[in-house]
Amino acid sequence: MSKAPVAIPPEHQSTPLQQPPQPTRAPLFDRFGRVHRSLRISVTDACNIRCQYCMPAEQVQFLAANQQLSVAQFATLVRAVAALGVRNYRITGGEPLVRRDVPELLQALRDIEGVEELALTTNGMLLADQLPALVAAGLQRVNISLDTLSHATFKTLSRRDGLERVLEGIEAAVAEPQLMIKLNALVLRDVNLDDVYGLVEFAKARHVPLRFIEYMPLDAERKWNLNRMVSGDELRRLLSERFGPLEPVLGSDPSQPSTDYRFASGGQVGFIDSVSKPFCGSCDRLRITADGRIRNCLFGREEWDVAHLLRAQASLEEIQQVVRVAVLAKFPSHGIADPDFQPPERAMYQIGG
Ligand code: 5AD
Ligand code: SF4
Repeated sequence: MSKAPVAIPPEHQSTPLQQPPQPTRAPLFDRFGRVHRSLRISVTDACNIRCQYCMPAEQVQFLAANQQLSVAQFATLVRAVAALGVRNYRITGGEPLVRRDVPELLQALRDIEGVEELALTTNGMLLADQLPALVAAGLQRVNISLDTLSHATFKTLSRRDGLERVLEGIEAAVAEPQLMIKLNALVLRDVNLDDVYGLVEFAKARHVPLRFIEYMPLDAERKWNLNRMVSGDELRRLLSERFGPLEPVLGSDPSQPSTDYRFASGGQVGFIDSVSKPFCGSCDRLRITADGRIRNCLFGREEWDVAHLLRAQASLEEIQQVVRVAVLAKFPSHGIADPDFQPPERAMYQIGG
């Protein structure tokens, strides 16, 4: 008499211990057909200022140095995901340049097969000093935050002095011909709405694209609300009243979150309307936090720990398997507008901007 086959529950079939995961180079598709080609690498949660829309004013507890991934560990992760088709890398924080080894990281990444683009997002305070080393190490793009040109407003917004240094950083970046620069501005209705005109003029004069980013519910103090946020629609209306009509720039890259416009009078401005017009449908991004957790969305409530794998010198295949699980768990959109929306536990500076 033949025995009936015993069904093995799926969770017990081929766990990593029984059968090593098979290397596969299939691209990182999620359940909604989105292919993941970008990784944002947060190298630290520390920052030298305290923007209201991001950090608490006092008593910020940053990760200890030994909780942050090393350059070699980030490079291993990048080797794993570059083999799966991730092409574009952006280094963020916190403020990434408070870590002094960003040039080493860029150098390590640029030699990895499959890495095409190396970018940095910074508040600009430490940029002028470090720019030569960053450019020599292969930096191609830099986004610099600039929310105001007023020293007093800078101090209110970021609870520190430092606008002078940011402006020096911007001028140094503008002087690097091979570097692509963008300025990012975030407007809080009660703090810097009047500053938008000066910012547009500043960017126009330097031929640098400026983008306005809607304030998202990612501030540590949970003070976000829709009234404090200024929508892209409102900004477009205000700017066209002042500077004349805005014409959409056709053919912008659909995986780029910003919608770009040109003033008939010259100059370009972009809008990242993450809250009022979510662009989740074309999202191609993954994130790694400074402490080695993969996140599949800024607003995700789940993280996948690869720090322990990197510390244990796990194989690239084991790391790739965790990344695939994270990608497959991705939701179709962030759901900020849903009545039961809950912001993530960690704030922007801990996730990576
Ligand atoms: N909403 C939107 N963008 C934010 N950033 C930080 N906090 C928020 C937030 N709550 C962005 C800033 C900065 C970048 C590093 O992260 O615009 O330019
Ligand atoms: Fe620092 Fe950037 Fe957060 Fe501002 S937004 S506090 S510069 S990490």
